[in-house]
Amino acid sequence: MTDDTKGGKPGKGPFDSDSATARGVARGLTNYGDIGFSLFLRKAFIKGAGLSDDALARPIIGIVNTGSSYNPCHGNAPQLIEAVKRGVMLAGGLPMDFPTISVHESFSQPTSMYLRNLMSMDTEEMIRAQPMDAVVLIGGCDKTVPAQLMGAASAGVPAIQLVTGSMLTGSHRGERVGACTDCRRYWGRYRAEEIDAVEIADVNNQLVASVGTCSVMGTASTMACITEALGMMVSGGASAPAVTADRVRVAEHTGATAVAMAASRLTPDRILNGKSIENALRVLLAIGGSTNGIVHLTAIAGRLGIDIDLAGLDRISRETPVLVDLKPSGQHYMEDFHDAGGMPALLRELRPFLHLDVLTVSGRTLGEELDDAPPPFKQDVIRTAAAPIYPVGGLAVLRGNLAPGGAIIKQSAANPKLMEHEGRAVVFEDAEDMARRIDDDALDVTADDILVLKRIGPTGAPGMPEAGYMPIPKKLARAGVKDMVRISDGRMSGTAAGTIVLHVTPESAIGGPLAYVQNGDRIRLSVARREIALLVDDAELARRTAANPITRPTADRGYRKLFLQSVTQADQGVDFDFLRAGVTNDTVPKK
Ligand code: FES
Repeated sequence: MTDDTKGGKPGKGPFDSDSATARGVARGLTNYGDIGFSLFLRKAFIKGAGLSDDALARPIIGIVNTGSSYNPCHGNAPQLIEAVKRGVMLAGGLPMDFPTISVHESFSQPTSMYLRNLMSMDTEEMIRAQPMDAVVLIGGCDKTVPAQLMGAASAGVPAIQLVTGSMLTGSHRGERVGACTDCRRYWGRYRAEEIDAVEIADVNNQLVASVGTCSVMGTASTMACITEALGMMVSGGASAPAVTADRVRVAEHTGATAVAMAASRLTPDRILNGKSIENALRVLLAIGGSTNGIVHLTAIAGRLGIDIDLAGLDRISRETPVLVDLKPSGQHYMEDFHDAGGMPALLRELRPFLHLDVLTVSGRTLGEELDDAPPPFKQDVIRTAAAPIYPVGGLAVLRGNLAPGGAIIKQSAANPKLMEHEGRAVVFEDAEDMARRIDDDALDVTADDILVLKRIGPTGAPGMPEAGYMPIPKKLARAGVKDMVRISDGRMSGTAAGTIVLHVTPESAIGGPLAYVQNGDRIRLSVARREIALLVDDAELARRTAANPITRPTADRGYRKLFLQSVTQADQGVDFDFLRAGVTNDTVPKK
């Protein structure tokens, strides 16, 4: 061990410390106005837990524990922490786990996105507040990994991501099922009265067959893959299922890697830059990733002062094929992706599109990691660029008078017959209005209409809920309608599929054009022309705007007040304006 990894700078006494060079337990001392006393007191307290001076002289590796009874996606956190600790100690470090907020999609009211920024602040501040030379971030469920990467990027301490891994698939009456594409498919069948109450209860027992994150290419899997592409995870760390020996070995390797990162001061700003963000965008497109991925990646990049240009994203989407055959764009599950070689196999296929000189958590470049990746073998989950599952990227960016700041559609999971479509708007003023009327047999709606849902943007709900996946009105579902064009300023789960326009910016709750759409207006969607147009003339829109002035939502107190005052729009990552790095120092993708 080198001197600079020992607790405190060598000095005259055991409690002398220099705050500028302090390492280990001497980092970031509590301020009593007497540095020596602060270190003396800190050591006295931690020795109450039985730690020796030898242990306290080691580099400290913090481990963020997001285990929670409310979060089955993180149900293997105890085993992972044990394995990370083993890796840290084998490499000569002292592991210290600590809790932060844990956010699960189904246990977050009003919505998990509302809490993502709070979790990122918790992560950032606890990394900064407690002494650690590096930190292992254990996350997995949709909002947790972006929250941790955002917080770690701002905290500036060497950080490495470990995901909990995907859940196993289940079996329902001979059919393989997994959360949550199949959850939506079965619920749709139940709404259409194709299956009965007994069967929907049966499948409810099978959709989530173990702890771990959703088993398709939803947001959790998307974030795991793009984190590996960013270089913030050990090679091959994205795909091992939660309950496998591979996942535990990844955890041990992560712990050992964190010790090496502490020694070399491999901070996030040395790994995360315009090139690595662009690599992550390529991967997001090539995996048919969740639309949420672009929002989260924008927020992570913003913490480093990097802007993501939506027009540039659309340009690289036109030249990046979807190669991964996973639901909802394809047919397989995350465990199949792992068996097919996982991210190293995909990155090797994408090699011509990637910046290979970027650094990863291993201290080696992405190109060096790929040179050492296991050799390819015959499989049918990760396609070659010559035989893609979809010829261009999974996402397309739309613009027009309905979305001057842009909107997103997941074209790889949309119905090709609806991607060029003009129809009559059937408008719901907010989520409650939709819940009240969508299944009313008296609702004036046909399969050719376009469903419009307002006030589910960043401030509208608030927290931009995943309500953009609007249900097909029951009377149409019963008649066999499976998809319709749907438009909102909200998000949808990465596990969902359909011809669904999301993230309309600016949102309706702050007076974006979506606020002024009325029943019966004509709307035109053209994915080929990247257009989303409200076919109402400018004078009429101006009249509606003047007649219905809109004020930004507010709250009287607490986190909700902070959220509503500070949250940015989708094109800025829905981060808080004061958490973004002050100055823009790069814009990606490059022209
Ligand atoms: Fe946690 Fe899907 S609900 S990953």
